Amino acid sequence: MAMEAHWGEGGPVGLDDTRLEDLSPEPLLTRDYETRPSLVYERLRQRHGAVAPVDLLGVPAWLVLGYRESLDVLQDDAGWPKGLENWRARTEGRVPSDWPLGPSLEVNHVLIQGGPGYRPLRTAWDAALKPFQDPRHPQAKRLKAAVTVYADELISLVGEAGGTGLADLSAQFSRPLPLMVASHLLGFPGSQGDDALMDMWRVLDAGPDAEPALERLLAALAELAAVKLKTPGDDFPSYLLAAHPGLSLDELARELFMLLGMTSDHVGILISNTVVEVLSGEGSVRATLSAGMVREAMNRVVMRKPPLVNFVPRFAARDTPLGKYTIRAGDPVWVSSAAAHADPLFAKHVASSTTVSTRAHLSWGAGRRQCPARELASTVAAVGVGRLFERFAHLELALPVDQLPWRSSPFMRGLRSLPVRYELVPMPVRPTVAGPASSPGAELVPVETVVPDPSARQRSSLWRYLTGLIRSGR
Ligand code: HEM
Repeated sequence: MAMEAHWGEGGPVGLDDTRLEDLSPEPLLTRDYETRPSLVYERLRQRHGAVAPVDLLGVPAWLVLGYRESLDVLQDDAGWPKGLENWRARTEGRVPSDWPLGPSLEVNHVLIQGGPGYRPLRTAWDAALKPFQDPRHPQAKRLKAAVTVYADELISLVGEAGGTGLADLSAQFSRPLPLMVASHLLGFPGSQGDDALMDMWRVLDAGPDAEPALERLLAALAELAAVKLKTPGDDFPSYLLAAHPGLSLDELARELFMLLGMTSDHVGILISNTVVEVLSGEGSVRATLSAGMVREAMNRVVMRKPPLVNFVPRFAARDTPLGKYTIRAGDPVWVSSAAAHADPLFAKHVASSTTVSTRAHLSWGAGRRQCPARELASTVAAVGVGRLFERFAHLELALPVDQLPWRSSPFMRGLRSLPVRYELVPMPVRPTVAGPASSPGAELVPVETVVPDPSARQRSSLWRYLTGLIRSGR
């Protein structure tokens, strides 16, 4: 093991400059990782310190576990750029063409991209999201009203099985709600986008039908992009095109794919994680919710369970010391927000007994490349969770919290299902006029401007699927 002197905070420390490829890293995505990821992070931290070599399904990478080191990477875009073209092993043909993570990283959209094309694209994203995130903008009000109506529609559908019963709140609420929101953002006419939404679901589930579903989905998004190019509307694709007129149809379709994926997966996970935290009474979330502080509850939930546990890779621009190792130019580095939040340096500042949580967490990223849709995602999740706890008089987990099934993914940590026993409030609030007391700002938006024709909804494939879940008594 080659060592060289390096100045740490307390003076010179030994630096290991063994090459990543020669360290025989251990696999990260094991059965242990699936069930107790925190133990795996702690084992790696004890063995390697703030940065550990890991094997990601056959490809070696550095996993950043330290809070300070994560910030070092995230806040220095020049020293640690994104962009797969910066990956030495890939350029040298050492990343297998059938690497399972390839498909999710090789679609070159704003989240993955580095290089000169990134800046104008990110600026356009910020501009296109603004109307939906500025609380004074009519679009933001319409969105909030629409989320309220969608949430009520879904809850009423659950109630069709009876005022009390069993439901899977993941399949019947947390997953479809953000899909419906994505359709609203994308400006799919009526419920025409529903087939595409069902395909997004298949892609995220990565089952045997994922590949044809991805093809259909990209085709549908390209078609939508062409429509918006010809006839712009009040929607995200049209705003993005207006802010970045140079985007080709293909490029626009990729960005729409990114929006659909982020919205449906991340926001759904945030909703489910929040519900679990509240129902299992972990931490002080129940106390904050009952005090009406849904946003603060959510901040605590993203800190304790970040939906995006490992970020997309960055690459060392030059040989750089990080943790105990020298990271070679072109080595891939994955920041793990979940591990960084468990770093004693960060964790000791977060008193779990308080209802006021820290905002220094990394759940939305940090630096220039942090999430541009934080407000939008938080609003959708907060309105959804708010409606759930207003419409259900009683909700309890139908499984002990440690037996809930988690999905195994290198990027995300989310539930496969969320079985609950429920009792609805006897007189359901009909989703006729948007904007209950819990959704300030939504009250003046007429319902017909935010929801598609309800009969079209009932004919849609998403609705048929959800109705099927009720009949099958899941
Ligand atoms: C609970 C929901 C969400 C969470 C926790 C989340 C989290 C994050 C995080 C951690 C990053 C930084 C990744 C990195 O540094 O590699 C990120 C980036 C990004 N997010 Fe989100 N996100 C959420 C929802 C959304 C939604 C709904 C959208 C789109 C409407 C979105 C759009 C983006 C984009 C475009 C980036 C890339 C920014 C860049 O590289 O400049 N996110 N998000």
